[in-house]
Amino acid sequence: MIDFADVIVDLQAGDTGKGKVAHALARSGEYTHVVRYNGGGNAGHTVYHNGQKFVTHFIPVGVLYGIKSIIGPGCVLDPTKLESEIQELEKGGINVREHLFVDERVHIVLPNYIEEDSKDSMIGTTKTGNGPTYRNKYNRSGVRAKDYLPEEILVDVYKEFHSSKRVSILFEGAQGFELDIDWGDYPYVTSSHCTVGSAILNGVPPQKIRNIYGIAKAYRTYVGAKSFEGDSEYFEKIRTVGGEFGATTGRPRQVNWIDMNDLERAININGVNKLIINKIDVLDEIGIFRGIIDGKVREFEDMGYMEDYIKDYIHIYCTSVNEVKFSKSPFDI
Ligand code: IMO
Ligand code: MG
Repeated sequence: MIDFADVIVDLQAGDTGKGKVAHALARSGEYTHVVRYNGGGNAGHTVYHNGQKFVTHFIPVGVLYGIKSIIGPGCVLDPTKLESEIQELEKGGINVREHLFVDERVHIVLPNYIEEDSKDSMIGTTKTGNGPTYRNKYNRSGVRAKDYLPEEILVDVYKEFHSSKRVSILFEGAQGFELDIDWGDYPYVTSSHCTVGSAILNGVPPQKIRNIYGIAKAYRTYVGAKSFEGDSEYFEKIRTVGGEFGATTGRPRQVNWIDMNDLERAININGVNKLIINKIDVLDEIGIFRGIIDGKVREFEDMGYMEDYIKDYIHIYCTSVNEVKFSKSPFDI
């Protein structure tokens, strides 16, 4: 029986600090399960746990706290990469195998899918086989975990969530709204859904959703083939100070100012009630505070003014939001 589920969604093009938020929330002890609901090895979540740095791709952060962690049916999975990720976490003293499970419906990333994806130059993918795996899933020619992985690691989320036991779930998303297959800047998108709707597809009815945490950064980044970075001397500085290099591929992320109209759309479509804006310290360090509103760059005197502007804007245009938090990196809620 599900008591409630909280969902983390990224409101920009990935890399907003979802992993850090998931890690901080999981620490509360409120959740019986942490579930990844979309994507696969294209994700890269950097978290600091007891002073150690971990980068996860498939594995939900719940394992770090010994919480039952599930790779949900909306995900795709590369078993070889999963094994090395497990070993990496084990080296850091984390008991992964006891807590990590894979829903039997998860689609498997096969070696030839990775080979195909590695030839991509049009989208600038992470070359992790994500696109071909989802394509074959929808083409009904994919291979599922049920037919590929050992039984010990498999679960059925229906049995897991809808038994007599009380369940509270934290959904840890991957990618972000601007990469969503429907809502993103197609074709420069990923092949899965990155909204709260995607979390629900993993076996939880909508009325069980309690909080929807929308995560953004005080500026935007994007990695991929399209040209995204605006023309400003400050973007190189933001990249350096913010450490804006891919956690999965090491590629430099393109940088731009936060776009309020895009943020508004992402918040309203997801019905976000808790908004978190990360990495404000990066702008503070550089000493420049800008945002794009209605296509025009607007400058603020300091972070305080920028925060006030964002709060007012959200208050007017995004009525589902009842809490706005500004956070430094490393994440500090
Ligand atoms: P997290 O979870 C940032 C981007 C790729 C590319 C596009 C399609 O760490 O936020 P794909 O390999 O999914 O077919 O690539 O999506 N992309 C991400 N960018 N963060 C991610 O995940 C991403 N996952 C995919 O760079 O532009
Ligand atoms: Mg990332």
